[in-house]
Amino acid sequence: MFSTRLISRLVVLCTLLGSSAAVLADGNAEAGKALAVPCAACHGQDGATGLDGTYPALAGQNEKYLLRHLKMIQSGAREIPLMAGQLNGKSEEELADMAAYYASLPAKVGQAQGDDATVALGTRLYRGGNLEKKVPACTACHSPQGEGNPPAGFPRVSGQSAEYTVAQLTAYREGIRRTDDDYGGMMRDAAAALNDTEIKALADFLLGIH
Ligand code: HEC
Ligand code: HEC
Repeated sequence: MFSTRLISRLVVLCTLLGSSAAVLADGNAEAGKALAVPCAACHGQDGATGLDGTYPALAGQNEKYLLRHLKMIQSGAREIPLMAGQLNGKSEEELADMAAYYASLPAKVGQAQGDDATVALGTRLYRGGNLEKKVPACTACHSPQGEGNPPAGFPRVSGQSAEYTVAQLTAYREGIRRTDDDYGGMMRDAAAALNDTEIKALADFLLGIH
């Protein structure tokens, strides 16, 4: 069951990879820097240290993922009330420039804060998943160091604020975050069987992975 689903996901993925390379605009990081001035208020001057843990780090995130999300935030497909109006009137090229700018900034890495058992749980799930619960290994898509897969647009998860990661994994699990539609719902599948303890352990582990 699981493997058949996984194979169909991979087929969707290959089709995506084949077709989306052509649409990927090449942003200009220098132009993006000027456009991103207002974003620093929430996402930090360095793009990595947000106002608090609910604001995601953008620095070092891959361009393809950033551009996809800027388009979804602009269209409302991803609802972020705090960002209302921020992207109004921006052209696709301007969004691509901002994506290129944040992708060009150095990513920040933190350190896992949890106790030994928490770190062990996060490490085990990230590297090996949980076969019984049909949780896939996160490494397969987000890479062993957590930098994601830039050509495929799989996001970097390393060094991301734990609070933000917990919120996102919970939202995928509950089916509230559906921005993985393009990818056949693969993140909702990956998070479906995770309990709160596992989500916290994964988020803590991701803080320090690199
Ligand atoms: C008033 C605060 C605020 C401002 C200003 C703001 N953002 Fe955000 N942004 C947020 C919050 C909060 C989230 C996370 C929402 C969530 O939890 O899903 C977010 C998420 C994002 C994401 C998704 C990150 C991911 O990992 O999926 C991107 C990309 C982004 N912002 C880019 C920008 C850019 C570019 C600007 C400037 C044009 C900007 N933001 C301005 C608050 C802000
Ligand atoms: C089959 C590939 C695949 C697997 C396995 C996978 N992911 Fe993902 N993940 C993705 C894709 C694709 C996205 C982007 C989807 C979107 O745009 O919402 C994503 C998004 C995320 C995000 C949101 C990033 C952000 O900045 O908002 C987090 C956190 C995450 N994954 C963590 C995990 C963890 C933890 C696991 C292991 C339990 C995992 N993923 C397993 C493909 C995968």
